[in-house]
Amino acid sequence: MGPKGQPDPAGRGSAAATPEQRTEHLAPPLGIGMVGYAFMGAAHSQGWRTAGRVFDLPRRPVLSAVCGRDPAAVRVAADRLGWAAAETDWRALIARDDVDVVDICTPGDSHAEIAIAALEAGKHVLCEKPLANTVEEAEAMAAAAEAARARGQVAMVGFNYRRVPATALARRMVAEGRIGTLRHVRVAYLQDWLVDPDAPLTWRLRKESAGSGALGDLGAHIIDLAQYLTGERISGVSALTETFVRERPLAGGPSGGAARGQVTVDDAALFTARLPSGALASFEATRFASGRKNALRIELNGELGSLAFDLERLNELSFHDHTEPGVSAGFRRILVTEPDHPYLDAWWPPGHGLGYEHTFVHQARDLVHAIASGTGPDPSFADGLQVQRVLAAVEESAAKNSVYTTVPA
Ligand SMILES: NC(=O)c1ccc[n+]([C@@H]2O[C@H](COP(=O)([O-])OP(=O)(O)OC[C@H]3O[C@@H](n4cnc5c(N)ncnc54)[C@H](O)[C@@H]3O)[C@@H](O)[C@H]2O)c1
Repeated sequence: MGPKGQPDPAGRGSAAATPEQRTEHLAPPLGIGMVGYAFMGAAHSQGWRTAGRVFDLPRRPVLSAVCGRDPAAVRVAADRLGWAAAETDWRALIARDDVDVVDICTPGDSHAEIAIAALEAGKHVLCEKPLANTVEEAEAMAAAAEAARARGQVAMVGFNYRRVPATALARRMVAEGRIGTLRHVRVAYLQDWLVDPDAPLTWRLRKESAGSGALGDLGAHIIDLAQYLTGERISGVSALTETFVRERPLAGGPSGGAARGQVTVDDAALFTARLPSGALASFEATRFASGRKNALRIELNGELGSLAFDLERLNELSFHDHTEPGVSAGFRRILVTEPDHPYLDAWWPPGHGLGYEHTFVHQARDLVHAIASGTGPDPSFADGLQVQRVLAAVEESAAKNSVYTTVPA
């Protein structure tokens, strides 16, 4: 028996309990297979490990297998991150019977090939952002996802900033009309890890592996978030991009070595945009904002009020109600930790704050619900394709001296 005389759900103390008896009270398993185990791989592992322990889920995520290319390193990663098995070829991972969902945490140059193969093999897919490195790849992925949807499969793109309780609350408040007719969207995603001109030339700084620089990495997030919060899709853009440091030491080269290579992506991207409602939007994505570590800031100004969010203070949402008398009106801080706030009924008491990693728990939760219900998911591969089209329009505009460039519908 367990605590307070209850039957022990883990079957401890009952030598006769079979594996089936020990899990019969649990939701049916959903096998996860993940490709890539570095930054996002660790974050997604955290999400998969935790989601079913915090939320009541219709399927129970089981960390079946992780894939990397180095046999020893992937085995170590599997043990550290909690995966039952390790593979060294993503095709073998997809082929496993205990993998129902393929989670892609690799650089953009492999997203399309892995995602399409997984969908064709009958698996659900979660793919990190940006969906692909080109519009053409994203189109092929969205087409594969659409075909798979008819077979009951789900394909989601990992725009995890939708899953911050404060941004989800902002979305709810916009949809409820709390800020009225939208006039302005002001978004910046600011980091500073490239300020040092001797920071190494990693895959993120090469077009063939990353597709683009700050634009695809940070810009993709804020395009998705702005569109999600407003419920509108960008209709056209006027853009500037710049590469401030054009040569960097080769990654993995000898420390202090002279070998350098070309940076082939943007370091920063700025663009203005029109929304179909007539609202104007401005976007800034940079890795050169000294002192700004992960400052994703978004402000919406409407006829009835404004909302503002900063990822570096992610438990808070600022709201100004413009219908209040001017004498007492002003921005006020909503501490987004109440059980009525999005995702928070399953977490800690009010005021006990969440963090970055929880967005991946919420992402896993939402994907499991989409799989179980056969609806959604949000954001879909079609949504990822549309963001890719905005990214392409930004690059086209920047290449043409900022000429206004429409985004294909
Ligand atoms: N959602 C977010 O907030 C967020 C943050 C960072 C990165 N990302 C995205 O996540 C993806 C991965 O970025 P990261 O920061 O984790 O990169 P990373 O360099 O930390 O990790 C990439 C991993 O992919 C593995 N890999 C590469 N090619 C592979 C292959 N063919 N087979 C198996 N493994 C392979 C590498 O060994 C490594 O483990 C990118 O698409 C990136 O844009 C998203």
